[in-house]
Amino acid sequence: MQAADLSAVLLIEQEQNFPWALGMLQDCLAAHYECWVLVVKQEIIGFIILACAMQQADILNVAIKAKYHRQGYGQLLLQHVIELAQQQQVKQLFLEVRVSNLAAIRLYEKLHFIQVGNRARYYPAEQGAKEDGIVMRLDF
Ligand SMILES: CC(C)(COP(=O)(O)OP(=O)(O)OC[C@H]1O[C@@H](n2cnc3c(N)ncnc32)[C@H](O)[C@@H]1OP(=O)(O)O)[C@@H](O)C(=O)NCCC(=O)NCCS
Repeated sequence: MQAADLSAVLLIEQEQNFPWALGMLQDCLAAHYECWVLVVKQEIIGFIILACAMQQADILNVAIKAKYHRQGYGQLLLQHVIELAQQQQVKQLFLEVRVSNLAAIRLYEKLHFIQVGNRARYYPAEQGAKEDGIVMRLDF
């Protein structure tokens, strides 16, 4: 992912409820996190952001454009950063996900992430409410 990709990435992000702002994506690039886009036929159809710190890494965001869901692209991006983390001697890979996000939870479970914690009222939800998060971890 490069600065020139951010407008396309932001459009994908804005398909979600409560999307990241442009500044958060810019911060990830500035911090030199592992920021990757998935390009299919010259179109950016997804992205993933991984922050590595010593032996631990966190997947900060991942999304596939809605019209390309369920075609294996999310799994492809996840497998890419899992390989990157292994190359960087990471021992544990973490992520957080909304309890209602069953598509993402099933994807992570398929790749052998396990639930290791809960974050009560962690995410903003509709009408000022809050939603719980699940912390998941993959051990290498
Ligand atoms: C989560 C997300 C990235 C998955 O991407 P995707 O490309 O549609 O997923 P894939 O086609 O690679 O699916 C891989 C596996 O994940 C699981 N999965 C994906 N979508 C699913 C769904 N809607 N229901 C149930 N399982 C699902 C399945 O196990 C699937 O394997 P299978 O097709 O062999 O059954 C995508 O739904 C997305 O962009 N969602 C919006 C953003 C988001 O929620 N990001 C996660 C934030 S924590």
